[in-house]
Amino acid sequence: MKITSPIVFLSIASLSWAQDLVDSPNLQNAISSTRLLTHTRRLVEFSRLSNGNRVFGSAGHNATVDYIKNALDETGYYDTQLQTFSYLFSASGIASFSASGTPYASVYLTYVPSGDVSAPLVIVNNLGCQTGGYTAAVAGNIAVIKRGTCEFGHKVALAGAAGAVGAIIYNNEDGAVPGGTLGVISRPDVGPYIPVTALFGLDDSALIGELSAGQRIVGSIHVEAVIDERYTNNVIATTKLGDQNNVVVAGAHTDSVVAGPGIDEDGSGSMGLLEIALQLPKWRVTNAVRFAFWSAEEFGLIGSDYDLANLSEEERSKVALYLNFDMIASPQHGIFQHYTKAEVKSMLVPFGSGSDYRTFLDAGIPTGAIFSGSGGIMTDEQAGWWNGLAGVAYDKCYHEACDGVDNLNVDASVLNTKAAAHAVAKYARSLDGIPRPSTELPARSLKIPRQSHDEISHQDCRHEPLLAI
Ligand SMILES: *[C@@H]1O[C@H](CO)[C@@H](O)[C@H](O)[C@H]1NC(C)=O
Ligand SMILES: *[C@@H]1O[C@H](CO)[C@@H](O)[C@H](O)[C@H]1NC(C)=O
Ligand SMILES: [Zn+2]
Ligand SMILES: [Zn+2]
Repeated sequence: MKITSPIVFLSIASLSWAQDLVDSPNLQNAISSTRLLTHTRRLVEFSRLSNGNRVFGSAGHNATVDYIKNALDETGYYDTQLQTFSYLFSASGIASFSASGTPYASVYLTYVPSGDVSAPLVIVNNLGCQTGGYTAAVAGNIAVIKRGTCEFGHKVALAGAAGAVGAIIYNNEDGAVPGGTLGVISRPDVGPYIPVTALFGLDDSALIGELSAGQRIVGSIHVEAVIDERYTNNVIATTKLGDQNNVVVAGAHTDSVVAGPGIDEDGSGSMGLLEIALQLPKWRVTNAVRFAFWSAEEFGLIGSDYDLANLSEEERSKVALYLNFDMIASPQHGIFQHYTKAEVKSMLVPFGSGSDYRTFLDAGIPTGAIFSGSGGIMTDEQAGWWNGLAGVAYDKCYHEACDGVDNLNVDASVLNTKAAAHAVAKYARSLDGIPRPSTELPARSLKIPRQSHDEISHQDCRHEPLLAI
């Protein structure tokens, strides 16, 4: 990083201006819809650099990272860092399956390797969740596995371990299989992934019947996967002021999915957080505040995971608290956090594994979040509380191309950015009432497999993300 001398002078000057301790009303008053919208419109411009999205590793995402980093550097108030890591990028590819020349509607599963295989089909006993379900007959052939009980990825790796050259997963319900992913990139402790496709609906029931009756049928699988290693950056900015042994971390993710520019998801949280970080330098803080702008959240919380794994035990123990802001300006916004003074009805939701808060919870760090709803459907009761439309999603453009500036609920953006500013100011002043991070839990002891967020929902109101089971 090149630091030019004017910035150094500016930083000394701005630190000496920061005389008063930050407080919530002042920081909240500094938040304006105009500035939030300005940032957000920039994100849409950035998305035009890369086919209308800001997926990690793309030009649109890189421009987002540069915008944040430059703005924070200009304040002189933070030690900023680009934290570089790599991850396998995967996008929707092509998968097809035919048996005896008849094509079947197939679903592409993320993380499936490319390949072309033709071999006899062999039914796997039970649901293929245990090694015992895969007889010797599977070796060299295509394993035919019923959906249910365990993740697709587990079944495919077990089939690979048994020597199958390919696999199909057939449905137990009409319609597409949910999830659409093998869940994690690889499962070296179970077995290798092999070309696989999931079959749509129950169209294959006749085929399954014939196989069960002992007929020999040759199937063909064709998979074209889109997968490559990409480098990307988290932006981490820590106040130079404040107690560096008690760090309040506030985070949001900067990447979008491939489908669209990601303005509510999560331009709303990341630009709200940026604006708070740009206003905070007017004051002084008691505890250090670290603003974390995560990359590759949409691929399974990769950036926050990398950050926490990279902290030494000592550095991790200094993180007093984590605050997460992912989707805070949904068009039909729900209020899933508690506002004591504002007279609004709120409904608290439990944490799932749908955003970066999970990384910090797994590390035993006290965690809070603001969330205005994603793809979930507003109930009749909620529509009454929040003057919304029952039966319509909180964000009908969730993970879609239409998640642009028009999808941003400006009132919600201001309300929830002020709420975030309140939390940042409060904990920057004092951590009274916050339990010390648990020392009982070894870091990440509760780790559960993270999912590719391209295919599953973020945690919605009372819904866990869908797993491909
Ligand atoms: C984005 O930044 C990463 C990390 O610096 C770099 O490897 C990659 O090539 C950049 N992508 C584009 C499209 O410029
Ligand atoms: C964190 O990453 C930096 C840069 O790659 C490396 O120098 C450092 O050793 C890492 N620390 C830990 C604890 O992994
Ligand atoms: Zn998402
Ligand atoms: Zn998100």
